[in-house]
Amino acid sequence: MKIGIVGGTGGMGKGFTLRWCINHDILIGSRDASRATSAAEEYAKLANEIYGKVNGTIKGNDNLSIAKEVDVLILSIPYENIDSTCSQILSQIKDSCVVVSPIVPMVKTELGFEFIPLKENKPFSYQLVSKYMKNKTKLVSAFHVISEKKLVDPNLSLDYDIFVCGDDTNSVKIVNELINEIKGLRPIYLGPGSLSYFAEMATPLLLNAMIKNKLKNPGIKIV
Ligand SMILES: NC(=O)c1ccc[n+]([C@@H]2O[C@H](COP(=O)([O-])OP(=O)(O)OC[C@H]3O[C@@H](n4cnc5c(N)ncnc54)[C@H](OP(=O)(O)O)[C@@H]3O)[C@@H](O)[C@H]2O)c1
Repeated sequence: MKIGIVGGTGGMGKGFTLRWCINHDILIGSRDASRATSAAEEYAKLANEIYGKVNGTIKGNDNLSIAKEVDVLILSIPYENIDSTCSQILSQIKDSCVVVSPIVPMVKTELGFEFIPLKENKPFSYQLVSKYMKNKTKLVSAFHVISEKKLVDPNLSLDYDIFVCGDDTNSVKIVNELINEIKGLRPIYLGPGSLSYFAEMATPLLLNAMIKNKLKNPGIKIV
């Protein structure tokens, strides 16, 4: 499978790449093609050091170019940039492409971490991205509560749940499989995309719990 990562030069993009390059071809996207190429080279070198040999390739290009050719597209960009980025690329993806939003609408204030849609009466990420989708059922929300620090180190032992929301059974299945490929992660389906705010809200909840209680590396696990 070809997996594209818009904003793949960031921490999450690096983590996704190092996890999924074992079995898939990864295309790193950036606003700047040369930045994407440099990141891809760096990740390929790291993957080689970690695993020796992987089945997938890691390449980089501008966000639009990679978005046009992939089977799964991860939107690894800040909430504030959804409009400017998605309006350019989502009309150009393949009809079969599954789009994944890990985007957390969160801001740090004097109280702690707060959820922007509640604080500022704005749409949650899934709502905002879905405005730009030709086929809205291909959008799946996932990966909000796993930190980049845990993804980038394949030697860390993980035991966490990942909330998943989406409307199309097959698209959700594809994302569930990608979650299952990361050892120690379990997909937990929460419901349709319109309930994605529950998953998005879990991140500020987790970060506040971590900071106020001095917890180290917390994650979410339903028992
Ligand atoms: N970090 C975490 O642990 C974590 C955990 C769960 C979920 N998330 C979510 O995952 C997403 C990615 O997280 P991240 O920490 O990797 O984000 P990030 O490092 O802040 O940004 C990712 C990439 O977004 C691109 N970007 C920055 N400003 C932009 C703009 N104005 N327009 C378009 N693209 C822009 C940059 O790529 P270029 O400059 O190369 O274009 C950057 O490398 C976020 O939505 C975050 O809420 C993060």
